[in-house]
Amino acid sequence: MNILAIETSCDETSVAIVEDGRHVHSLVVNSQIDIHKAYGGVVPEIAARSHIEVMLPVIDQALDKAFPYRHSRPDRESSHILSAEGTQNIMDPLIKSEDDKRKWQWEQIDAIAVTQGPGLLGSLLIGVLTARTLAKMKDKPLYPVHHILGHIYANWITSGPEYKTPYPKTTPEFPVLALIVSGGHTQLMYGESHTSWRVIGRTQDDAVGEAFDKVAKVIGLPYPGGVSISIAAKNGDPNKYALPTPKVDDKYGYSFSGLKTALLRSVQKECGKDHTFPSFELANLLSKQQVVDFSASFQAKAIEYLVSKTKLAYDDLKPKSVIIGGGVAASLPLRDAISREIPIEVQYAPQILCTDNAAMIGAQAYYLSQSEKPTDPNQVEVKPSWPL
Ligand code: KG4
Ligand code: ZN
Repeated sequence: MNILAIETSCDETSVAIVEDGRHVHSLVVNSQIDIHKAYGGVVPEIAARSHIEVMLPVIDQALDKAFPYRHSRPDRESSHILSAEGTQNIMDPLIKSEDDKRKWQWEQIDAIAVTQGPGLLGSLLIGVLTARTLAKMKDKPLYPVHHILGHIYANWITSGPEYKTPYPKTTPEFPVLALIVSGGHTQLMYGESHTSWRVIGRTQDDAVGEAFDKVAKVIGLPYPGGVSISIAAKNGDPNKYALPTPKVDDKYGYSFSGLKTALLRSVQKECGKDHTFPSFELANLLSKQQVVDFSASFQAKAIEYLVSKTKLAYDDLKPKSVIIGGGVAASLPLRDAISREIPIEVQYAPQILCTDNAAMIGAQAYYLSQSEKPTDPNQVEVKPSWPL
């Protein structure tokens, strides 16, 4: 089953074609990071406009990558045709036009999937409206997907285009313990089957990715903070600044707002300023060494905290697999720490499948399609807040 999946919940316009939830035929991610960098974070209005601009070209690219027309239809032999410029154009002689090609590509698609929420309202609207229209016009079943479940199912993908970090060799085995660490969510989840996922603990305030992004802003590093802090941290001393381990009543719960504030206080102290000094001017007072030391200290504490609760849940629940998902799951120091603490082998998705992408949406939609009927396109509305 080939699913064409669309993800536009935040600042990435992404389309993928995924077969049976495990193989990626194509994945296109148009990131708006460079646009939002200037503002130090995602500007919702700009994100929505950018989705509109690139949505259709991204769909075309995903189709062309998945089904290059030189592969032709299996029932017809392809032939080599010389174009007017003399360059060799390998094309099925029966696919004469661009329209023919698209028609043939769409014949390969069995269903459409789209992120329905949670996410930014304007961004979600573009993806959902596109998916609804395509489902109706192309007469394909439509599966709306929960973004967080998408992050989980990135771990079910075992093959596709080659990336710097490899695919897991096998799919996770139930019961599964999942640590979700993204810009909007931080939670531990437990799944007994594809149809039974529950949240066992979540952050009471900020998400860890959000904390990384805000701390990066304070110490003058670019957005997205998780990436720039991990690069700076390589040259810093993780023990230089002592930060407190957050305390929450909930056994598997998290809190990052206190840790973020402790970092801010520590920066103020180091700069000889108090809370009345504008925080956006603090970065100008820090030396390069102080920036890398703050990065290393914050990253080390955040990772130690994330992993300690995951280990606690692992010891109590004894799952067969542990997985991590969400943008911060791309962090190699986090992966190292998990692998050190968890006694079973933890397999990780390629980094590109951790940050927002449509392949994970296609993977989740496939498993959803095994137990649920498709949704009437007219009934699919966006769900900017969609509790699990
Ligand atoms: O899942 P995601 O792409 O978007 C949301 O659904 O929120 O996560 C974005 C978050 C950002 O906060 C970013 O700083 C963080 O993921 N991030 C990373 C890395 N790449 C992205 N954090 C640590 N290491 C990375 N390599
Ligand atoms: Zn996400």
